[in-house]
Amino acid sequence: PPVLKLAVIAGDGIGKEVVPQGVRALRAALEPVGVSVATTEFDLGAGRWHRTGETLTDEDMAALAEHDAILLGAVGDPDVPSGVLERGLLLKLRFGFDHYVNLRPTKLLPGVPSPLVDPGDMDFLVVREGTEGPYVGNGGSMRTGTALEVATEVSLNTAVGVERVVRYAFEQAEQRRKKLTLVHKHNVLVHAGHLWRRIVEEVGAEHPEVAVDYAHVDAAMIYLATDPGRFDVIVTDNLFGDIVTDLAAAVGGGIGLAASGNLNPSGAYPSMFEPVHGSAPDIAGKDLADPTATVLSVALLLDHLGHVEPAAAVRAAVESDLAARTGPDAVAARGTTGIGDALVAAIAGR
Ligand code: NAD
Ligand code: IPM
Ligand code: MN
Repeated sequence: PPVLKLAVIAGDGIGKEVVPQGVRALRAALEPVGVSVATTEFDLGAGRWHRTGETLTDEDMAALAEHDAILLGAVGDPDVPSGVLERGLLLKLRFGFDHYVNLRPTKLLPGVPSPLVDPGDMDFLVVREGTEGPYVGNGGSMRTGTALEVATEVSLNTAVGVERVVRYAFEQAEQRRKKLTLVHKHNVLVHAGHLWRRIVEEVGAEHPEVAVDYAHVDAAMIYLATDPGRFDVIVTDNLFGDIVTDLAAAVGGGIGLAASGNLNPSGAYPSMFEPVHGSAPDIAGKDLADPTATVLSVALLLDHLGHVEPAAAVRAAVESDLAARTGPDAVAARGTTGIGDALVAAIAGR
């Protein structure tokens, strides 16, 4: 029987709580179609770093590469210097496995409250570039601690890197409502901004059916908060995409529901699926984290590997669970494991 080889990186904080629910959901989705899931747990994150000083070794990367996909919870811990795990583990994975598409959908599902008074029909897809921008670590500091200290983070934008993610975004727009919005800040960031703008124009010429739009990132925040229904596909750089997608999560029903896929569309490396949220030290260990974002990330994983019916089953289970939730304590009442139990039962019982 076919086997899906899944690498599991639970990571830190609530990552350890939500990932097991994601794995259960994946098994429940695939069992009825005769696919079994073989998991390999990777001990990566704060615990490993404290014990060994390692974040992610070449051996870890080689072992991870042997899998069909990676499911990640979150990394980052208050007792580890900020950036050590975020850069040394998470970004090393995204860069090393060339996850140039960071896919982050927002859909306000029926019955889910939005903080917006008039949310309208909210269903958009952020295609965030995943391997370039200010995230590359091409910066430095000098004269640290002196009055003349200098610190830089340089945003790297290559024509190849921009073009491949823009192409992916146009292909997504073709399958959706045929609208693409470039979000950038080309009135200030003129070098990177004009490269993005030119490439969107060039690739757009190959997609005459897709209406192309542009918003500076600051104005895009206005529209996200006042008229999110205007967006279909948003394509943007790594840092803008990070910020845009936390607001998208908030208006789209909450960070506990926001899913993402770090894709290497060529298939040369395994793609990685993770909730948009972090390790949430403020609620970790209390069974208070909503596992729904992780379960919806599993649906993206299933889509990516071509398991269409199991992906739809996961989404249907989530939709009916969300529709039945009432009041601000809906997550706390059942807890991470209680919600996981309900979702797994609904997926398995389809
Ligand atoms: P966060 O996303 O962890 O938390 C922000 C807020 O959202 C908190 O109030 C938290 O309680 C809440 N929240 C997050 N996930 C939730 C869930 N599933 N259910 C209910 N509430 C939830 O962001 P932060 O506090 O800025 O970062 C904490 C740590 O996580 C930092 O170390 C940061 O670097 C790291 N981080 C990691 C990732 C990742 O691994 N992908 C993503 C973001 C942040
Ligand atoms: C995310 C996170 C990461 C990012 C950090 C932890 C490196 O905020 O996945 O959104 O900035 O991409
Ligand atoms: Mn983020």
